[in-house]
Amino acid sequence: MYIPIISPYATLLSAAGLVIVLAFFKFRNRRTLPYPPGPPGEFLIGHLRVIPFEDSPTAYLNWGREYKSDVLYFNTLRQPIIVLNSVKACVDLLDRRGANYADRPRFVLLELLGWGMTLTWLRWSPKMQQHRKMLQSPFTKSKVSQYQSLQMKETHRLVKGMMKSPLEWELELRRFAIAVVANVGYGVDINTVDHQWVDLSDAAGYATSHAGAPGGTIVDRFPPVRYLPDWLPGLRALKYAHDNKSAIVNMHEIPYQGALREMEEGVTNPSFIHNLLEKYRSNEKEGLPNDFTLADIKGSAAAIIIAGSDTTMTTLVVFILMMMCNPEVQKKAQVEIDAVIGSDRLPEFEDIDGLTYLNYIRLEVLRIAPLSPLGIPHRNLKDDEYKGMLIPKGSIIYQNVFAMHRDPDVYSNPYDFNPDRYIPKSEGGLGEAFPVGNFGFGRRYVLFKIYCFT
Ligand code: HEM
Repeated sequence: MYIPIISPYATLLSAAGLVIVLAFFKFRNRRTLPYPPGPPGEFLIGHLRVIPFEDSPTAYLNWGREYKSDVLYFNTLRQPIIVLNSVKACVDLLDRRGANYADRPRFVLLELLGWGMTLTWLRWSPKMQQHRKMLQSPFTKSKVSQYQSLQMKETHRLVKGMMKSPLEWELELRRFAIAVVANVGYGVDINTVDHQWVDLSDAAGYATSHAGAPGGTIVDRFPPVRYLPDWLPGLRALKYAHDNKSAIVNMHEIPYQGALREMEEGVTNPSFIHNLLEKYRSNEKEGLPNDFTLADIKGSAAAIIIAGSDTTMTTLVVFILMMMCNPEVQKKAQVEIDAVIGSDRLPEFEDIDGLTYLNYIRLEVLRIAPLSPLGIPHRNLKDDEYKGMLIPKGSIIYQNVFAMHRDPDVYSNPYDFNPDRYIPKSEGGLGEAFPVGNFGFGRRYVLFKIYCFT
């Protein structure tokens, strides 16, 4: 039998040839694919001065219409930025190709503000995976249903507080929002609006939410700016970070030091932070290695507070505002509550299925004012191709939830607050799609959607 003998040189040459051909095609492919459309940028600085710092979601929405594309491309100082204006594009890329899109950009401004080891801002890395694992235990499906009695207790306190001091309604909402997560995270009972943590979370929430779109400030777009004096013109964001840092630092330190003190005093408390601190100390005593540091414990507990309190509070404020602006909606909701619950008790979790109109109001509140209108940006690890366009590696990817919720092909009169839009067609309604995107897309948030939707 004839066995062909291939010389090692020939094999090496063929392999090298193959690599060159593949590299050529890869390079050619990248070069020939166009970027998604978008407005023209300027020489060297790209779109640095084109993207507005205020109300960028509306600007992106308008550019999407102008360029007839749900995917837009920008760059600032060579940093590519991709804006996804439709649910379909977000699902196609962030959900279906999740492994490539689960990273985050570096949030320089938030770092300067004092945010450190917090899952929400961590890049895709072993550290991020570790924080996700740490935060998994209090937010499994069975665990979150155990918080319902806590949520009910706090809701009753909220209603009583608002009836007793109607002018303090906003403060009562803030107490409620922090009370739930403070209990889960630290085992602390925030039973009055005068509790120090109400101010702490207020200040930290304000500092974070007024810092501009995450990843979108001048400091994020051009990080060396952080070393300049903050009184220079155009560096408002830098000054903002310096002026507001103490709010974020206090939000981390005060609750954390409280938990440490309780540990030293031997207080038993089965909260998230106590469980981790106990594990840490017992490993230390037994000479075993610890997988996580005290900074990890501090940061992951703070993530529960900041991610869970300001978001809840703001959503409830939008709800109240919409009820004030739309009294006819409020009346209809009252009719439904009277019919399903009666007037001698407050609604319970078990009543949810019977409160259809109230559920439509909840969805419409999420649609009309998504509190993170551009989501929290993701970043892709590799070049990608979408509908014949290049999504370059390392792009900052914004999910324009604001635009998705105002898509006239999906929502009739999208600027109107109209819970009836969700009544199914089979019942004579418009059967419009439930809003998606408020809680983000892709792999980052899978776990927390359980908490938010139960
Ligand atoms: C109305 C309420 C809420 C809204 C609108 C909201 C919205 C969001 C959004 C848009 C993200 C980014 C997801 C992405 O990467 O695409 C996020 C992340 C996160 N949220 Fe929420 N959230 C809410 C409540 C909560 C609550 C109650 C908790 C916990 C108790 C929570 C914990 C987190 C955490 C830990 C992350 C970071 C996940 C990661 O980056 O891997 N959120 N949230």
